[in-house]
Amino acid sequence: MINARIVGAGRYLPDNIVSNDDLTKFMDTSDEWIVSRTGIQGRRISEGEDTSELATKAAFKALDKAKIKSEDVDLIIVATITPDMYTPSTACIVQKNIKAHKATAFDVSAACTGFLYALSVANAMVKTGQHKIALVIGAEVLSKVMNWKDRSTAVLFGDGAGAVIIKAEEGNCGIKSIYTMSEGDKGNSLEVGAVDVVNPFVKEQLEKKYPYITMQGGEVFKFATRAMIDALNKVLKDAGEQLENIKYVVPHQANLRIISYAAKKLNINIDKFYINLNKYGNTSGASIPIALAEVSEKLEPGDKIILVGFGGGLTYGAALIEW
Ligand code: ACO
Repeated sequence: MINARIVGAGRYLPDNIVSNDDLTKFMDTSDEWIVSRTGIQGRRISEGEDTSELATKAAFKALDKAKIKSEDVDLIIVATITPDMYTPSTACIVQKNIKAHKATAFDVSAACTGFLYALSVANAMVKTGQHKIALVIGAEVLSKVMNWKDRSTAVLFGDGAGAVIIKAEEGNCGIKSIYTMSEGDKGNSLEVGAVDVVNPFVKEQLEKKYPYITMQGGEVFKFATRAMIDALNKVLKDAGEQLENIKYVVPHQANLRIISYAAKKLNINIDKFYINLNKYGNTSGASIPIALAEVSEKLEPGDKIILVGFGGGLTYGAALIEW
């Protein structure tokens, strides 16, 4: 049987470290408020690099780890809600940068769950035999869609990118189960506006879209905990696995309180969750692959992990992987 196996992972974060205290220099907030509400102590903020540059650097690291030449990659999927431009897609820009001339390249948009959606598409395309070596990336420069005067959102997010190489392999290892779901009717609880419709034929100019992140924190909190538990249980059941056999749960790194709440509900020690949001904040579609690249250093062949995420859309999902 052909399986889709992750054979290398890499991450790239901008050099610029912005602490909570740095934010207090231009925003009415405090380290105490941010840490107690979210667990975030710092984040990386781009000093000019755009999403494709972060994605390209993470891609080179993943290729290096996997010992795969970029010209052998035949599929590139980038999960992002902060592309450099509408077209070319971020994936096509990465293709040009890494010279993967034999690849099909496109972007996927599912906010913080984007990497899981991209992984799901790549998994299907590899398992059918359509593609042999896929590069799947989550990359965001959220700092360009944050209102830096809105303390209720600006303290939460950061920039970064993570990437994996997936290979078609005979055998048992790889992605054992993957689950994705959307609840579009709740989409307005987390939004980033885009370009208004302005043309000579518009009859009535509607209210201008707000081009930055807005969030109803309480609504997202309730959704996130429910969605995480649901998705995690779905992949466990589908793979016929028990939580005690899972070495790490790698969650979307939004908020320590969401992760702690889910751990309590699932009756598992929070130490099973790999957490790095204290260093990087919420990097949306990049958060799971960044954490996965870090956790991969601790994995042995045969170890089982679960990736689980939730985000704008609203969207959520999980994947159970045998390393
Ligand atoms: N610094 C200081 N005070 C602040 C800040 C800040 N950065 N932000 C808000 N406040 C104030 C508010 O103005 C409010 O003051 P008031 O009572 O005088 O009006 C007070 O703190 C409480 O504000 P709330 O928004 O009610 O704060 P809450 O305790 O709910 O925490 C948070 C907000 C952390 C966002 C919370 O709702 C939460 O954990 N939500 C989950 C959603 C989440 O983490 N999303 C991440 C991104 S989405 C995703 O990844 C899918």
